[in-house]
Amino acid sequence: MTLHEYDVVIVGAGGAGMRAALESSTRARTAVISKLYPTRSHTGAAQGGIAAALSNVEDDNAEWHTFDTIKGGDYLVDQDAAEILCNEAIQAVLDLENMGLPFNRTEDGHVDQRRFGGHTRNHGEAAVRRACYSADRTGHMILQTLYQQCVKQEVEFFNEFYVLDLILDKDPQSTPSGDDVSVAGVVAYELATGEIHTFRGKSVIFATGGAGKVFKTTSNAHTLTGDGMAIAFNAGLPLEDMEFFQFHPTGLAGLGILLSEAARGEGGILRNSEGERFMERYAPTIKDLAPRDMVARAMANEVREGRGCGPHKDYVLLDLTHLEPAHIDAKLPDITEFARTYLGVEPYTEPVPVYPTAHYAMGGIPTNVHGEVLRNNTDKVNGLYAAGECACVSVHGANRLGTNSLLDINVFGRRAGIAAAEHALATAEAAPLDESAAAPLLETVERLRSTVGSSDAESVAQLRRELQATMDRNVQVFRDAESLTTARDDIAALKQRYAGIAIHDRGKRYNTDLLEALELGFLLELAEVVTLGALNREESRGGHYREDFPTRDDERFMVHTMVYGGEELRLDYKPVVVTKYQPMERKY
Ligand code: FUM
Repeated sequence: MTLHEYDVVIVGAGGAGMRAALESSTRARTAVISKLYPTRSHTGAAQGGIAAALSNVEDDNAEWHTFDTIKGGDYLVDQDAAEILCNEAIQAVLDLENMGLPFNRTEDGHVDQRRFGGHTRNHGEAAVRRACYSADRTGHMILQTLYQQCVKQEVEFFNEFYVLDLILDKDPQSTPSGDDVSVAGVVAYELATGEIHTFRGKSVIFATGGAGKVFKTTSNAHTLTGDGMAIAFNAGLPLEDMEFFQFHPTGLAGLGILLSEAARGEGGILRNSEGERFMERYAPTIKDLAPRDMVARAMANEVREGRGCGPHKDYVLLDLTHLEPAHIDAKLPDITEFARTYLGVEPYTEPVPVYPTAHYAMGGIPTNVHGEVLRNNTDKVNGLYAAGECACVSVHGANRLGTNSLLDINVFGRRAGIAAAEHALATAEAAPLDESAAAPLLETVERLRSTVGSSDAESVAQLRRELQATMDRNVQVFRDAESLTTARDDIAALKQRYAGIAIHDRGKRYNTDLLEALELGFLLELAEVVTLGALNREESRGGHYREDFPTRDDERFMVHTMVYGGEELRLDYKPVVVTKYQPMERKY
């Protein structure tokens, strides 16, 4: 086992982790530990844009952006955090521009902006052009740009190291409120060698991304297994608002591969089997550019009511055929190529089959606006930070607006990086951490290796398939007590079977078999938390739609859900921060 010591240890090298690293590494000794080579992180799959009220092409301001974010999040957004997000958006985009990000430009050379769902002028009057973009590969460009800056700044990366344990100096659940709990470091598994490494840090930032792989049909990559969220949870920290999972309306039908909302921002139209532009009925003002939760529900409803397309009437169509091919090529080159490659559809002349796909976790590890992780409603964990999709600040509430996630990783990644470095500089010594910290992980790894060759063992791939199937069926765009109870019971049974899994590879080098077994454990934990939160929330809000409770219930549920682990999961609530926007009915 190797012990490393740094001032700041960042876990994850996507947009949030690298934005944090750019701040932290100029102030303090920083290591970035990443399960992937940084430019393979999932930020690279974000397509359509990053929101900022630059007013480059239309009148706009940060207050309208804040209002849209809060209304889009169905009033579960912490409004102080949303104000920070939208006020700091402009500088965040200018920073990226100054780093060299190749944004699309207006004719007079400014950063161009396009329309996106739920972003409006003057509190809902009409859609506004707020998304700054780089064709339909904005996330890819952000990732490359941040990585180049990190290389220039000589940030130290530990690539293909899987962080699997978080070490705190005390149990956060049994420590009385008001007493200090501090981070000590993390334990990681090196993919290339199978060696265990312990990283001691005065500050640790989790920036580990999402958990889309709890579902089968998802826009998320194979690696999005919610590791950071589950590791924090297993270390005794709560998870917030996990029942709010975003289904992006336009996944390629049957596959879930993302087709950017930018397609509708550029004029694309959703049609049902009758050729009807059905969003006119659901959101008469902004139609196809309504927020994602509403569009996804409308699509699922069209299919349920028999107006779906295709042989099984199980998808709707995204129509770009009225757009000039040159416009499509300039603004949407990647996603139109996806339609050609994966479905054999030519978007110049044929509408593209689409259906909602699991896309984004609004919930995650609770933090305050400095990225400091909270161990209950009031106490932070000294030195522990989280940013990006694994965190819940909460700027997205019950439903994130498109283009606010690339913004979130830049604004709150930067804030976490600064705060973590300042904490490290003000801290004489990291909390104690020695070789024994690695013992539980070593034991787990050895136990899994010893299962190779066991007969009658459970298969990791089979359990994952069954988990994803029940989540796809029962924890979908539409849910109710019956479907959620089925999912809860299925997950409980899968967790029992998980205790009897065996792997096939005993080796030390590149043992992805072993790691997939550990990732499945994380997925099962998170699926249970998602389902429990969804079962308990007897209302409909944002991305969480209960058919048996179809209206929003502000009296009982304008609160964040907090789920704590242990022998039995425990539920609690946290008030929503309201500054100046009182909840209203959500119409578009
Ligand atoms: O549709 C998209 O381009 C996705 C953007 C996002 O999730 O923010």
